[in-house]
Amino acid sequence: MNWQAPWIKPAAEMDSRAPMFKKTFRADKPLTSATLRMTGLGVYEAEINGQRVSQDVLCPGWTAYKHRLQVQTYDVTALLRAENTLTVLLGKGWYRSPLLCWQDGTIQKELMACPAGITAELTLRYTDGTLSTLLTDESWLVSESPVRFSELYDGEIYDATFIPAEATPAVVFDGPTDTLIPQEGAPIREQERVHAARIFTTPKGETVVDFGQELTGFLEVQLAARAGDVVDVSFAEVLDRDGNFYNDNYRGAKCQYHYTCREGQQRYKTHLTYYGFRYLRVNSFPGEVTKDAFTGIAVHSDMKRTGHIASSEPMLNQLFSNIIWGQKSNFVDVPTDCPQRDERLGWTGDAQVFARTACTNFDAETFFSKWLRDLAADQHEDGFVGAVIPDVWTHVGDRGNSGCAWGDAATIVPWEVYRAYGNVEMLRRQFPSMCKWVDYIGKVSEQPPLWTGGWQWGDWLGLDSPAGSYKGASRDEFLATAFYARSTALVIRAGKVLGEDVSAYEALYQRIVAAFRAAFPEYQTQTECVLAAHFRLAENPQNAADQLACMVRKAGVKLQTGFIGTPYILHVLSDYGYTDLAYELLLRREYPSWLYPITKGATTIWEHWDGIMPDGGFWSRDMNSFNHYSYGAVADWLYGVAAGIQTAEDAPGYARVRIAPHPTTRLDWLEASIDTRHGLVSCKWTRTANGYRFDIVTPVEAEIALPGMAQVLPAGSYVFHVDD
Ligand code: BGC
Repeated sequence: MNWQAPWIKPAAEMDSRAPMFKKTFRADKPLTSATLRMTGLGVYEAEINGQRVSQDVLCPGWTAYKHRLQVQTYDVTALLRAENTLTVLLGKGWYRSPLLCWQDGTIQKELMACPAGITAELTLRYTDGTLSTLLTDESWLVSESPVRFSELYDGEIYDATFIPAEATPAVVFDGPTDTLIPQEGAPIREQERVHAARIFTTPKGETVVDFGQELTGFLEVQLAARAGDVVDVSFAEVLDRDGNFYNDNYRGAKCQYHYTCREGQQRYKTHLTYYGFRYLRVNSFPGEVTKDAFTGIAVHSDMKRTGHIASSEPMLNQLFSNIIWGQKSNFVDVPTDCPQRDERLGWTGDAQVFARTACTNFDAETFFSKWLRDLAADQHEDGFVGAVIPDVWTHVGDRGNSGCAWGDAATIVPWEVYRAYGNVEMLRRQFPSMCKWVDYIGKVSEQPPLWTGGWQWGDWLGLDSPAGSYKGASRDEFLATAFYARSTALVIRAGKVLGEDVSAYEALYQRIVAAFRAAFPEYQTQTECVLAAHFRLAENPQNAADQLACMVRKAGVKLQTGFIGTPYILHVLSDYGYTDLAYELLLRREYPSWLYPITKGATTIWEHWDGIMPDGGFWSRDMNSFNHYSYGAVADWLYGVAAGIQTAEDAPGYARVRIAPHPTTRLDWLEASIDTRHGLVSCKWTRTANGYRFDIVTPVEAEIALPGMAQVLPAGSYVFHVDD
């Protein structure tokens, strides 16, 4: 974008201390408008005359910074007076944080070395038709601020008694200009406030605050204190088996919250970092710790809530609540794997697993559209897509550790977003990236049209993993070839929507399927059966589903699937005549199951089926997030199969719907609703003395399929009774 304002930075490096930039200016004549456009290397908070310029937080958000850095535009007319002060506080944010620098020579290491810079342009339009523009330059002053330390993983240290030395002039430097773009993403904002539910003393004698809900965001403290008093807390998601505070699973993330008070009544909250937590350990607090001293503030990308599910089973309702909180906690400008440990990265595999559910729970079109542009921007020329987007690791020429089901986010996520909202332009924009990904597989596979060789994450966290491995027992080449076929099929479907010639991909698809069938005549794991049936790769998908049902029963009605098999396992069972077995798996309470974590008090979705084991012990300290949304993808089955609401295949965005609920005698009732672009669609079924009652509302034409009856009906509200 056209950008004139210079970049400015402090004269001396401030390391992890947050600089405060300051500019005073006059606006002597009556104003028509005042518009501030700005961005920073890190995360900033801007104020005019002590008032925040907008509700947005953690600006400029997180993009593929090497290619794209968002500029925010604020209407600040109402904040101006004759004499004005504009201040900008800048933390390291995502830009200059170490993030998880696994490999040498990572892109993030280059970004980290950048100075703490901002660039801003304030345009004042006066009623007399004149205009003046104020740009960042050497006339701005910079000082240290009360934020003595700010970093994404390591938290914040704030000293309200801090008196800065005299400010010094800012220094102009050569910052990024050709990567600047206008804000694209849904802004990150403070959402609901969560009050402390209880305070207790642990067996170790520590004072712990429980919010009763795991959340991602800020922590606000309010208290009366003497200058120099200290509030210091640590964060955790769970307690250990003895009821003691436990946060070893945050790994290297220090998540500090250290506040030195000023004199008097005061309120403080972190601004430039965020935490994932349910519990606080109070390490230092002046006076008695009371519940009203602490408030958790959920922070996530602004998205309209669109999906609701309720049933007669309280544990299922809690599962759905956990899924919603999992999404809120991890949709912080990019879809992150988790919000607490030293990771919080845009893992592509997790995003594609959850995309369909995400787009039903919330209107996530703006959120995903922006992330998909980051994906396309970070995609290498040969089509490689990194395991995380923004790709903070892999340089061109470096093949990193991406693989099937991770890189396939390039095809699956655009398709799911298109399916949910029907936006052809978004699909058109992503189409070259989708094709490039499929072409890339053909280039790197050792035995095309199978996909063999190279790094694969496999059926990540599958319960059939060999001892000591995170990778399920499903074969790499099986999974990779199945996703190669899946991605090719999606390119074909997208191409047809866009009127592209996809004949070469159609021929490729035939070759992949034929090679898959020849190479894998048998299925060895639950996940292999799931993919063979769900992606329609098996010559006879029914046989694959039958085998899956046998395996599930043989295992004691237990799933053994990981990231790859879990999202589809219930679909395969219900699609091929095993709906009751699907419900048995869904409603199972013992480990492993979706409801098991709830018996252990979960309020979000866990990374592992056994994050807390039946004996109360932990799975491990290294990889044990209690707020990982992937397995929450089961909500898609609840919306689309249990309640039976789906967009018609040829009418994306719910322009026409199919309503085909699958009631069960295991529940008294279940209902779901989706606030689509065409209006609210809902379906509730209730068990009656001799069958079921169905209450259906559709804003568009609907194909309604109930047990023993099918018809197409216009928009309206309907009640049906079906006898057993
Ligand atoms: C993340 C995952 C991710 C995985 C790669 C983990 O550390 O938390 O959710 O997909 O690595 O398999």
